[in-house]
Amino acid sequence: MTLQELKREFVRLYGGDESDVRLFMSPGRVNLIGEHTDYNGGYVFPAALTMGTTIAVRQIPERVIRLRATDLPDFVEADIDNLDNYRDIKWGNYQIGVAVELQKRGYEILGCEMLFYGNLPYGGGLSSSASIEVATALALATFSNEKKGVTEPVNMIEMAQVGQGAECNYCGVNCGIMDQFASAMGKKNQVIFLNCKNLDFKLVPLEMDGYKIVIANTNKKRSLADSKYNERRAQCEEGLKALRRALPEAECLGDISMEQFIEHKALIEDEIIRNRVEHVISEDNRVLLSIEALNSGNVVEFGRLMNGSGDSLRDLYEVTGVELDTLVEEARKIDGTIGSRMTGAGFGGCTVSIVREDAVDEFIEKVGRAYEEKIGYAASFYVDNVGDGGHEIK
Ligand code: GLA
Repeated sequence: MTLQELKREFVRLYGGDESDVRLFMSPGRVNLIGEHTDYNGGYVFPAALTMGTTIAVRQIPERVIRLRATDLPDFVEADIDNLDNYRDIKWGNYQIGVAVELQKRGYEILGCEMLFYGNLPYGGGLSSSASIEVATALALATFSNEKKGVTEPVNMIEMAQVGQGAECNYCGVNCGIMDQFASAMGKKNQVIFLNCKNLDFKLVPLEMDGYKIVIANTNKKRSLADSKYNERRAQCEEGLKALRRALPEAECLGDISMEQFIEHKALIEDEIIRNRVEHVISEDNRVLLSIEALNSGNVVEFGRLMNGSGDSLRDLYEVTGVELDTLVEEARKIDGTIGSRMTGAGFGGCTVSIVREDAVDEFIEKVGRAYEEKIGYAASFYVDNVGDGGHEIK
């Protein structure tokens, strides 16, 4: 759908004309390395995509938020003075959760009509939800600032926190900050090296001449993913608690080095918990090594570290499954793939691979065929570019 078509559809659904309709966009993300480290105060290395969520929106005098999407029959009308009442709506709760979080931070929520258009696979592990949250937060905060006469641009790190807050406090997924941060703060052709403990970040130019990022979607329905995600988080907290008996100054697993873990790991009696913690601490190390590899132009070493991350997520963190494993195994068989791993929370969703440009067609054909033969339905492939974070389209 083009932006013009989106505006036309807006007018068809809500009436009026296009003159007061504005557009806000925020992208999905792909994480190159650093998985399940964000909520442990560790490092991540995600990039914003060009695919994402675009909202057409108009301010209205009534004290309600109206929500529709281009591809759903749902219609939500939420009373701005009672936003806590909409927790149980299925579609629309990310947006209302965002409005609640903004209210908590002193933003004034003003009446509006919104139409959502997304071109990310929904629930596919590319952070479609974060892109909805950040785009919504940016639109609502922009209106609030304009009314108050605030002239500085909207604080996008705060918008990431608002999105994360909506997900955790309103939607029941205890997620970290990575997805919303990447959606809010991404920059074209740059990858975000983010310290999730203090939100310090650096933009690293994506210089992979001759290589492409290829995303493969398992198209697996993500059942129970949220509860397993919250379970992993609780296991990390249990592991931290045990290690803190020897390392009381550690506030999170991100504060603990590999050497310290090896020295004290016997304090974690449960083998599963020990494995979870080993993944997190070794993964943090791999992110640091990855940055070094990319800084010295060593893409092959970067790919090797991605493979190490993927294996650790499969064997120690146990968040893959036959669908993701098949995509990764088949990807690594292609001459021209230098690294392949699952990306995002896992339990379905997508893989990310670095593939030599001239091998991309063969990759998609062969991996796609092998996947369908083994799993019984098709995977989808995306060769997207790295795009900008949340912004108003003027
Ligand atoms: C999901 C969460 C993120 C992060 C990843 C795993 O995408 O939303 O916060 O924890 O899983 O790295």
